[in-house]
Amino acid sequence: MQYDVIVIGSGPGGYVAAIRAAQLGNKTAIIEKYSVLGGTCLNVGCIPSKALLDSSEHFHNAAHAFADHGIEISAPKINIEQMINRKAGVVKKMNDGINFLMKKNKITVYNGLGSFVDKSTVNVAKADGTSEQITGKNIIIATGSKPTVLPFIPVDKKRIITSTEALNLKEVPKHLVVIGAGVIGAELGSVYARLGAKVSFVEFADSMIPTMDKTMGKELQKAIKKLGADYYFSHKVTGVVNNGDDVTVTARNSKDEEVQITGDYVLVCIGRRPYTDGLNLEAAGLTTERGKIEVDEHTLQTKVPGIYAIGDVIRGAMLAHKAEEEGVFVAETIAGQKPHINYNLIPGVVYTWPEVASVGKTEEELKASGKAYKVGSFPFKALGRATASGDTDGLVKVLADKATDEILGVHIIGARAADMIAEAVVAMEYRASAEDVARMSHSHPTYTEAMKEACLAATENRALHA
Ligand code: FAD
Ligand code: NAI
Repeated sequence: MQYDVIVIGSGPGGYVAAIRAAQLGNKTAIIEKYSVLGGTCLNVGCIPSKALLDSSEHFHNAAHAFADHGIEISAPKINIEQMINRKAGVVKKMNDGINFLMKKNKITVYNGLGSFVDKSTVNVAKADGTSEQITGKNIIIATGSKPTVLPFIPVDKKRIITSTEALNLKEVPKHLVVIGAGVIGAELGSVYARLGAKVSFVEFADSMIPTMDKTMGKELQKAIKKLGADYYFSHKVTGVVNNGDDVTVTARNSKDEEVQITGDYVLVCIGRRPYTDGLNLEAAGLTTERGKIEVDEHTLQTKVPGIYAIGDVIRGAMLAHKAEEEGVFVAETIAGQKPHINYNLIPGVVYTWPEVASVGKTEEELKASGKAYKVGSFPFKALGRATASGDTDGLVKVLADKATDEILGVHIIGARAADMIAEAVVAMEYRASAEDVARMSHSHPTYTEAMKEACLAATENRALHA
């Protein structure tokens, strides 16, 4: 079969690229090696982790927050099997949704491993042992990423697990040792801490979520500590030994002393690597650079004309919405349009409670670049809405250009931060000043008033309620 566009990989990058290519009138095919569409994000990433975050948050609130609201119930119990089944149901609903979208847009779906035969032909090796070759005028590689594992960590997927297994546990761990306090560690560590596990974080850097604005990490640490977690920061893991029913993690601290932590489960979440196994890139004339597929900054085209790459398999943030933007971008580029992505304004969100959300520059980045900036912060505890609901942890921090007042970065930790960050993205896309946002009416009482107040604080320190 001959197609205008073949997409390899059906994650948020791939399936969105296929939809946009089909919308633009291209005969489009998508190849997925698993039997379900949706990639990491839908099957073992964004969606199942959020389902468990929401379930565990309900449990935590029932146990710890209801009484304060005057709701008396007997002590809630966990049915982990039901929690995991519900999560599977959520994923299945969304799988069906993507199947529907493929049909609606007349996209041909091939289930099987895609590998290059030459620069315009892809072989699809199917589960039943048969294979089929298809050709495309344009090919988009969207094969995503897999968890990074270190050679000295014997991941057995039972006691020493990655995020994929952590989404399918049959029991709540007694003591979960989390290697890496980045985004996955914070989210899945929160799930099991809320369900009653003791959680210990062993992290190489000196804080949680170390790539985000430092204030966010500090505040998140305090919030997760309230769940009973403990931290081993500035600890480099050097060994993991599986003793059968428990696992011992060995690490070296900043004084070069050896520290051992033993738990019944160890979650390894130290980053993800681009995934190109089995693609046979060489046949298309392509290679990888430190695992990633290299692309031209202006077109996302590889060095082979007609072959593009998007999402986790190329440089940049490993985020679903970044992959989606790139999917649309490439489909429109193929159609001869001149699309645009503002990489500075891809927001980053951690779905803990409180949530953390950021866009633009961190304070540390501004300092390092020598840019003159000013800071306006506003605490959630001064908000009427936060007080009414009892979610008073957190703050909004706005960074603005000292001379022009243009907003350069917004960092939020608090209830609904994940949704609130959209206002900052819109404001920054239109290059708003802090004063612009400070003068816009924000409904009362809402959490978004913290954004307005932080902008007031950034402009001549004139927050009204602090
Ligand atoms: P993927 O989603 O990885 O999809 C790639 C697809 O290609 C896979 O289905 C794979 O099977 C297929 N494939 C690979 N090779 C071949 C081949 N040769 N032939 C055929 N098919 C192939 N991001 C967010 O923005 N928000 C979140 O809340 C979030 N939560 C996450 C939680 C977890 C636990 C994890 C692990 C990740 C999370 N992410 C989140 C990151 C997000 O999942 C990824 O950034 C996103 O899935 C990348 O999309 P992609 O299309 O590039 O690749
Ligand atoms: P990460 O990069 O967020 O965090 C990994 C952490 O492990 C870092 O803090 C790092 O310092 C630490 N580390 C590395 N080696 C170590 C060692 N030997 N010992 C101790 N600590 C070590 O990666 P993570 O959490 O695995 O997530 C992978 C990707 O998935 C992220 O890049 C993220 O973009 C994406 N993701 C996004 C989510 C979201 O948007 N909400 C949720 C989950 C994942």
